[in-house]
Amino acid sequence: MSTALYRRYRPESFTELIGQTQVTVPLMAALKSDRVNHAYLFSGPRGCGKTTSARILARCLNCAEGPTDTPCGKCASCIELSRDGSGSLDVIEIDAASHNKVEDARELRERIAFAPSRDRYKIFILDEAHMVTKDGFNALLKVVEEPPAHVKFIFATTEPEKVISTIRSRTHHYPFRLVPPAQMLEYLAEMCASEKVKVDEGVLSLVVRSGGGSVRDSLSLLDQLIAGSEKNHVTYERAVGLLGYTDLALLDSVIDAFAAGDAAEVFSSVDRVIQSGQDPHRFVEDLLERVRDLIVVGSVGLAAKNVLRDIPADQLERMRLQVERFGKAELTYAAEVISEGLTRMNGATSPKLQLELMVSKVLVPAQDSSETGSLARIERLERRMGLGGNAPATAAPVSTPVSTNTAAVPTNTAAGLPAVSWDVMQSSWGDVMTKLASISRSAWQVVLPQTPIGFDGSVLDIRFANEHDMQVFKDGGTSSPSEVLRKAIFEVLGVRVKYRAVAAHVGEPVVQVSTPKKVEPVALVTEPIAKVEEKIEEVNQNRNKLIDEKAQMGDSVLRDVLGAEPIEGN
Ligand SMILES: Nc1ncnc2c1ncn2[C@@H]1O[C@H](COP(=O)(O)OP(=O)(O)OP(=O)(O)O)[C@@H](O)[C@H]1O
Ligand SMILES: [Mg+2]
Ligand SMILES: [Zn+2]
Repeated sequence: MSTALYRRYRPESFTELIGQTQVTVPLMAALKSDRVNHAYLFSGPRGCGKTTSARILARCLNCAEGPTDTPCGKCASCIELSRDGSGSLDVIEIDAASHNKVEDARELRERIAFAPSRDRYKIFILDEAHMVTKDGFNALLKVVEEPPAHVKFIFATTEPEKVISTIRSRTHHYPFRLVPPAQMLEYLAEMCASEKVKVDEGVLSLVVRSGGGSVRDSLSLLDQLIAGSEKNHVTYERAVGLLGYTDLALLDSVIDAFAAGDAAEVFSSVDRVIQSGQDPHRFVEDLLERVRDLIVVGSVGLAAKNVLRDIPADQLERMRLQVERFGKAELTYAAEVISEGLTRMNGATSPKLQLELMVSKVLVPAQDSSETGSLARIERLERRMGLGGNAPATAAPVSTPVSTNTAAVPTNTAAGLPAVSWDVMQSSWGDVMTKLASISRSAWQVVLPQTPIGFDGSVLDIRFANEHDMQVFKDGGTSSPSEVLRKAIFEVLGVRVKYRAVAAHVGEPVVQVSTPKKVEPVALVTEPIAKVEEKIEEVNQNRNKLIDEKAQMGDSVLRDVLGAEPIEGN
């Protein structure tokens, strides 16, 4: 029976601690220059090294050659306070969770009066200090404020705000942090090497994710994987199974199916998730995380390897291809839908149903009239027309995707493609104006004050401020404002429009076109996370509306995805 990894590898000096330089560097400097305080407070999340550091500090202070920043390891005190040592009479660890009363504090005060039995200091480590009651702290206040010269206090706690401020202000406070993934990954890899354990690629990333930045938790998980391994080899399948993550291959196949609009494959993958007994909630989380990663890859290209450190190069390359097939607006849209699906799954009676509704919504952006839904549709439309330039992340906005290729484009949207709706026309009007201005400033000046008021997929209704404007709009043959506008609309939306002029009512004030809200796909891809969060916020606000639409959606999903026909007279 072997002891747990985290005990066997408990650091014995500050240099062995990982990810806590904000604490270890200044502490070591203080020890070196002999500017040691009489009381310390170590705070921070679970399993990040607080208790360990308290013991190391005690070891540094009481080393025969100390106080030092690096304990000698040979003197009696160092040996007693080592990992496997018996403990020292002069270092007293008190678990505040069970000694939190005033009486305990009084007893402590009495013990403080005695001199150390052998070493330099009598050191009191009060672990889980947040458990001490207010009265307990108050009883301690005096000694913590002015302890005898031979006494040192080290408080360790996960909740520093619960340590009363009068105590806190008498200590030097060192905040510990969660250990960043890259450092944790490296540490675990070293540990596997020294344990002579082979782990498949991807396993340690999963452990790091599950460990959530706590060294103890990560080590425990690794320990468990090693214990369950055969011939000291931890396989990826085992790790996925034990830690409950979605297999990368399954994620890849779902993403590919989404990109290809392959509903059958998507639903069969979902079915595999359910059949394998995996938690649908976890699957959706993993899916969302993958889409987030894809957005990052889409925004910064291969430089993403600096951001997504724990993803191997070949996976990154696969993801780059997925971004190309998927399209950035569609990714943003998918992230929205998935994130919303995640919220809805909380407390849902049938997570499987929610999951299926969610994926079908990702499959059918055409059903969604929101801005990103529309953008996703446009992107899909472009791809079907063979125009979807897989532009690099920094390329021109989606608003000019068909710019130079007009010859190859049919004169109107090809049959079978979703028509451009009035919603899309409205939300793209800002882009149309920008395009128009870039082609002809004078045409733009004519069009700007006019108001588009309707579009049926082919005929655009425009209300003119006055007769004169309407005339100017028409005049000028192939370079008339109307022709230039037609061109601009085509370049932005891929449709060739006809016009119907509607005159402003006599006496009605001239309406100034307030440019409809602009779609800014560039912002969507360069600041994906913030934008997605904003979107998520928006989605949350529209929750009620969406819930109403859900019933409708299920219906349209059946029709669009599965090709079902409604049965008359039910
Ligand atoms: N920064 C670190 N570097 C290396 N190992 C660490 C670190 N932090 C924790 N560990 C490992 O985790 C184990 C537990 O750490 P420790 O008891 O110091 O955590 P803690 O911060 O006191 O947690 P808790 O709040 O749960 O008491 C240690 O034995 C050690 O193996
Ligand atoms: Mg502790
Ligand atoms: Zn020593």
